[in-house]
Amino acid sequence: MRTAEYGVYTDRLRVLASDVVRGSWGRVEQDVHHALNGQAAQQLRSLVPLQVRRDEGAFFTGGPVRAKFASLLGGPEASATADRYWDPSCGAGDLLIAASEGLPTAPTLAGTVRLWGGRLRGCDLHQPFVDAARLRLFLAAAARHQGEVQPQSIDLESGLRAFRGIGVGDGLAELRNTAGYRGHLLLNPPYGNTFADDDCDWSSGAVSQAAVFVLAGAQALKVGQQLHGVLPDVLRSGSRYEPWRSRIESVLKVDRAELYGQFDPHTDIDVFFLGGTRKRKSRPVATVAPWWPAPIGASTIEEAFEVRVGPVVDNRDPHTGPSAPFLTARDLPTAGSRGIPGRTRQFAGRLVAPPFVAIRRTSRPGARAGGEARAAGVLVTGVEPIAVDNHLITASPLSGDESDCKRLLEVLESSTVSDWLDQRIRCRHLTVGVIRSLPWPH
Ligand SMILES: C[S@@+](CC[C@H](N)C(=O)[O-])C[C@H]1O[C@@H](n2cnc3c(N)ncnc32)[C@H](O)[C@@H]1O
Repeated sequence: MRTAEYGVYTDRLRVLASDVVRGSWGRVEQDVHHALNGQAAQQLRSLVPLQVRRDEGAFFTGGPVRAKFASLLGGPEASATADRYWDPSCGAGDLLIAASEGLPTAPTLAGTVRLWGGRLRGCDLHQPFVDAARLRLFLAAAARHQGEVQPQSIDLESGLRAFRGIGVGDGLAELRNTAGYRGHLLLNPPYGNTFADDDCDWSSGAVSQAAVFVLAGAQALKVGQQLHGVLPDVLRSGSRYEPWRSRIESVLKVDRAELYGQFDPHTDIDVFFLGGTRKRKSRPVATVAPWWPAPIGASTIEEAFEVRVGPVVDNRDPHTGPSAPFLTARDLPTAGSRGIPGRTRQFAGRLVAPPFVAIRRTSRPGARAGGEARAAGVLVTGVEPIAVDNHLITASPLSGDESDCKRLLEVLESSTVSDWLDQRIRCRHLTVGVIRSLPWPH
């Protein structure tokens, strides 16, 4: 098994748990703290090669992202009745540990592990991860008893057996075989791509496994039950996942879709928190998209501009038809305005007549040098129609007025718009739909 090396760490956890059982709490307290906070992820990085972690989608939720997740489970939107939790892709058990923070304890450690064991369910494809999850939940229970353990009062093997709901298995298959689950689903599934099944009704071809897990999870819930997930942000902000979002909204009332940012300092992927409640199928889809921040203004750019992607795909489109000035991202200054480009190209398709605003599609979210705008625009002037490369978005004023273009540049440069765009779209390129929804001051 490609994750067998992780067994080195589970052996260490077992020794630690044995020490706890022997009543050596004072000596091991710090070690237990590390085992419950970040060490499982750090050991994964050092014992399992990056390629294997990527292939298996194995990235454990530690540090601030787990703390935030735990606060959502205990927050006001969380169901007061949730007393059972299920993580169908549990890894080393971090989300279950987060959920255990809200579970009650029994008078003894043995009683607590029995109580928790009946309420926590999880599975993972990899035995070493499952072993780590059980051992860490045992340690989490012991930590709640803070050294009350007397020698011989509990034996480790029966303590671990109490977590019988946590085992090796295919969580996706288990979700698909479940209807009416009464409890709270916890999801940080693998993020890699898989092929959509033939009966997938929202996409075809390659799709994120996380999207498939979440939909299966939402469908497995009983009406009124909840799920919370840490998910790749492309599901929230990507236009590709629009049909997935609608599909999710047909089974789930989306209570929260909140951008978090980079998963952790070692994992360069933006994530968001999803919280939702299973609803009756008959309920109509929400009319206001819950996935994004509210639009900044009541009027939007699309009321005053035609916003489109540049029509020329330079390496694909034949060099036939009339010759025209050709505008590419390389020829665009970072701001301001420019005239007709000197570069030309034969192009038989649509040309764009100035004045218009050209916006680079490539655009990184987050801090930008020198207060640069997230969607920097350049006014293009002149009298000749232009062939525009598809790495650019063009906004042509319906009025034909250059003054409207200048107002648009001001809108694009505002820090409010850059901040809103950073919340709305985290991937490295802007979309026409997002530019159309920017505010237009009347
Ligand atoms: C992103 S990690 C998250 C683990 C854990 N939920 C957490 O938040 O720390 C995803 C986990 O899913 C597991 N996994 C991948 N496919 C699975 C499947 N079909 N069934 C169960 N687990 C799976 C991987 O082994 C990995 O441990």
